[in-house]
Amino acid sequence: MSLYRQSVSRTIVRSSLRDLRITPARRLFTKSAPPTRTPIRTSVYATVIAVSAGLFAVYYFDARSALHRYIFTPILRFALDAETGHKFAVKVLRSGLAPKDPVLDDARLNCQIWGQEASNPVGLAAGFDKDGEAIDGLFELGFSWVEIGSVTPKPQPGNPRPRVFHLPEDSSLINRYGFPSQGHASVLSRIRSRIPPFTSGPNRASLREGCLLAVNLGKNKESPADSIDDFVTGVRTFGPYSDVLVVNVSSPNTPGLRGLQNRDVLERLLDGVTKARDELSPSVLTFRKPKLVLKFAPDLNESELADIADVIRNSSIDGVIVSNTTVQRPKSLVNPNKSEMGGLSGPPVKPLSLKALRILRGHLPASIPLIGCGGISTGADALEFAKAGASMVQVYTGFGYDGVGACRRIKDQVVDELTREGKTWSEVVNEAVDKLSLKEAEKPTEIDQTSAISLLIAEAHELKTMLDKLGDKMGEQDAISIGKENGLAAAAEAAADTT
Ligand SMILES: Cc1cc2nc3c(=O)[nH]c(=O)nc-3n(C[C@H](O)[C@H](O)[C@H](O)COP(=O)(O)O)c2cc1C
Ligand SMILES: *[C@@H]1O[C@H](CO)[C@@H](O)[C@H](O)[C@H]1NC(C)=O
Ligand SMILES: *[C@@H]1O[C@H](CO)[C@@H](O)[C@H](O)[C@H]1NC(C)=O
Ligand SMILES: *[C@@H]1O[C@H](CO)[C@@H](O)[C@H](O)[C@H]1NC(C)=O
Ligand SMILES: *[C@@H]1O[C@H](CO)[C@@H](O)[C@H](O)[C@H]1NC(C)=O
Ligand SMILES: *[C@@H]1O[C@H](CO)[C@@H](O)[C@H](O)[C@H]1NC(C)=O
Repeated sequence: MSLYRQSVSRTIVRSSLRDLRITPARRLFTKSAPPTRTPIRTSVYATVIAVSAGLFAVYYFDARSALHRYIFTPILRFALDAETGHKFAVKVLRSGLAPKDPVLDDARLNCQIWGQEASNPVGLAAGFDKDGEAIDGLFELGFSWVEIGSVTPKPQPGNPRPRVFHLPEDSSLINRYGFPSQGHASVLSRIRSRIPPFTSGPNRASLREGCLLAVNLGKNKESPADSIDDFVTGVRTFGPYSDVLVVNVSSPNTPGLRGLQNRDVLERLLDGVTKARDELSPSVLTFRKPKLVLKFAPDLNESELADIADVIRNSSIDGVIVSNTTVQRPKSLVNPNKSEMGGLSGPPVKPLSLKALRILRGHLPASIPLIGCGGISTGADALEFAKAGASMVQVYTGFGYDGVGACRRIKDQVVDELTREGKTWSEVVNEAVDKLSLKEAEKPTEIDQTSAISLLIAEAHELKTMLDKLGDKMGEQDAISIGKENGLAAAAEAAADTT
């Protein structure tokens, strides 16, 4: 992955200082005679150096600077292989010496998810900070949602290298990392070490106003395929320290819920994780329990998504991220790396993830928010997801290609677009969700009403037969009219007529 590294920037500082000292200085201050050092000249040099270093620092620490997008990020991409670049980026962001987003979020970007406020709708997707090393550095870049992981219970190395491939012409990546993870214990201790001894700040695991910290839970390679234990352990371990827990349901090998068996597996998984979550005591950080969110692949077809939505509706899952990488290879890809095995991410995924999101939106009620992910790299992309009913969005590959300023740039583009349309992000989302989501009010009450009515009918019928029998026994036809007087048999007949 890209961005820049400390040593690169140090070299640039050093060489730019050298240039300043020698070349321009000679031209400015000397004709032919060698310069003689005077206190005045030395202090002029010192000032020039200090000012230019200061200017450089201003540029460097501002994530918006073109320096990052056009110089450092491409240099890193050329100089380092994808995985080393990625590691460097994490180390720099972890060091606290990384650039920052210096601008407060525009009020138009404000969004609500589960009644909690986020200062903007742009999050960082899972897989960048797998071990929770750079959480604060990433929030400083302006993301409102940082998702670490996937974290597996035991440490595991992942697949052999190389396992990440650049497709620059397609602005895409293919990865088959296979979930390298330092494991629960190590990631947990890192998260805990962020927490100051006395917190009196925002009631967020992110420790920041308007920001959410999510942990993406993974499964060890050697764990049985249909075992849910790793996820349940994850909920118990990270629940108290996160605002959101993400459970992956995106198996590339068994996409969807083919048949009853897979539906069973999903039901069991959702049952297990929601139960584990409900059993947690409220976090001492957030005073609440974490939200549980599922993440899917974009490779599911409409009927599979409808099946999944059925199961979700019948669970207490709080939201869905759509989507993970794809195993498909769109025809548009040009780079030869397209034949590498693994999950494809970046712009070619967007049509797939957008389609999956639209389908799911239509099968889920407005109370279950969706988070758009897959191929988002501009403000227009983000708004396209909002108009399909996504409450928030996440980026990964776009961030990798554009560097530290990506989040700020996307947010600025969204604001421009919103200003043109005269709307806020929340207005766009609410409008779309109202229009596109499954109408919650209809279905459940319909079921409730019909079941209440059928219960009444059944009871009335039962009473009627009892009265009939009674009437028979007494040998008097009047018995029915007793029932009719009571109104019960009449109710039964009336109800039977209406159905
Ligand atoms: C190198 C790489 C590693 C990833 N690792 C994970 C991961 O560990 N867990 C996960 O849920 N998603 C992972 N993802 C998927 C991303 O979170 C995201 O869903 C996907 O890349 C689509 O978004 P994008 O097109 O903006 O990159 C990874 C993606 C990439 C490119
Ligand atoms: C394929 O990906 C690798 C790893 O990122 C990279 O070194 C190589 O240059 C890429 N190939 C092409 C043709 O871009
Ligand atoms: C995601 O789930 C699938 C099974 O649904 C599994 O094959 C895959 O390894 C999981 N990924 C992680 C990170 O646990
Ligand atoms: C969806 O995919 C499943 C198998 O993955 C297949 O059985 C089903 O026919 C597909 N449905 C549609 C509508 O394509
Ligand atoms: C909903 O869940 C309950 C248990 O949680 C289960 O008994 C029931 O069969 C489920 N219904 C559907 C339609 O899946
Ligand atoms: C995402 O997709 C990749 C391949 O497309 C797959 O290996 C992985 O298990 C999926 N799940 C997660 C959480 O990344």
